[in-house]
Amino acid sequence: MKLWAGRFQKETDTLVNDFNSSITFDARLYKEDIEGSMAHAAMLGRQGIIEAREAEKIIDGLKAILADIEADNVEFSLDNEDIHMNIEALLTDRIGQTGKRLHTARSRNDQVALDFRLFVKREIPVIIGMALELEKVLVKKARANLETVMPGYTHLQRAQPTTFAHYMMAYANMIRRDITRLEDCTERMDECPLGAGALATSTYGVDRFQTAAALGFRKPTDNSMDSVSDRDFAIEFLSACSILMMHLSRFSEEIILWCSWEFKYVELDDAYSTGSSIMPQKKNPDVAELVRGKTGRVYGSLFSLLTVMKGLPLAYNKDMQEDKEPVFDAIDTVEMCLPVFTAMLDTLTVLPKNMRKAASGGFINATDCADYLVKKGLPFREAYMIVGRLVNMCIKTGETLDTLPLKDFRSVSGVFDADVYEALELKTCVNGRKVCGGPAKEAVERQIEAIRAFVEERG
Ligand code: ARG
Repeated sequence: MKLWAGRFQKETDTLVNDFNSSITFDARLYKEDIEGSMAHAAMLGRQGIIEAREAEKIIDGLKAILADIEADNVEFSLDNEDIHMNIEALLTDRIGQTGKRLHTARSRNDQVALDFRLFVKREIPVIIGMALELEKVLVKKARANLETVMPGYTHLQRAQPTTFAHYMMAYANMIRRDITRLEDCTERMDECPLGAGALATSTYGVDRFQTAAALGFRKPTDNSMDSVSDRDFAIEFLSACSILMMHLSRFSEEIILWCSWEFKYVELDDAYSTGSSIMPQKKNPDVAELVRGKTGRVYGSLFSLLTVMKGLPLAYNKDMQEDKEPVFDAIDTVEMCLPVFTAMLDTLTVLPKNMRKAASGGFINATDCADYLVKKGLPFREAYMIVGRLVNMCIKTGETLDTLPLKDFRSVSGVFDADVYEALELKTCVNGRKVCGGPAKEAVERQIEAIRAFVEERG
């Protein structure tokens, strides 16, 4: 018999029953649901809304249910629709009439808002912890490659020389922002919706500050309608996850390129690559490809929830039951991708010779050649034009700036001297860029230190 049988003259159609039910996925909120109910019951008892011994009986009953669920001794039923009603039904089955007092001054609307918030709020530190592990590996790789010169690209065309350490620190900075984005959204979701009731609180003397504190929230939410209608905490979380995945996806794309024979900048560990079923020579970067691919699922989750919410009048609408699966899927995806990505990066071998080879023998030092002229007094635009002419000349004769005879340099500008060759060396180009944020060893060391300190503060 349904809870609302008093109001209805017919049984719910089985199709509707199954359609309406969310227990198959929201069972995942059992712990948060029980904790929320325990805090609520304790508060009801303390406020004298129910008797203290009733509150105790409810809490003991809930504890026993929690233990049984964790021991896998509970079967939930579709007939009880969702996790909230399943647990309430179990409680009443077990402790009788007293169980029926738990739902005083509460609605499933504030209950689900609470459970879901608690759940997301608790997963965030898990994700942050995994992202911090990635930061550690990035720092480690950077430290080992402070002088590993490689090409830096724009438009995927060789642009200016940099180092693998500088590259790693670029990603470390993105991941740092991802972590702080997750921290920021935790801060905003740190308000407890319990006590908002269906939408307009209740006439009992509930103490929302008590339940908020008991459940580890900074404070109760300020407006009860907002509390039961709001899913922007989940949307914000999904957008932080999407940005994080976007970064992992770009990084994956680079790794995929770097381990191709065309680049061969890195070699993936055998344990983190896969072979082909037909081509014996193949060693594929499946992990990186899957991370890139799974990014789409997380974006999908974000868009699905944004779309669910966009037309809903206040306050609760059943549409909102669609909020959980995308969030669960995003959490599972991110929590699966981060550790495997980190381990893949940790175990990959850097091939500095190939990186250096790709950086040399071309025109990656052309900016430095122009800068050389500027340092000798020419305006940059003029210097730029001169080097453009030199590059054009080199392309015609099959030379590069490093091999071009001095007389040819001088045929274009008399400012060139024999010291140009030193200025064009890759080491000089990289080490000259000591500016804050640059690729020179000491500049990257400062970047590493900043990330190290960031990780340590959270360690
Ligand atoms: N299973 C529901 C959900 O996930 C719980 C809230 C139900 N509230 C209601 N008024 N029908 O959204």
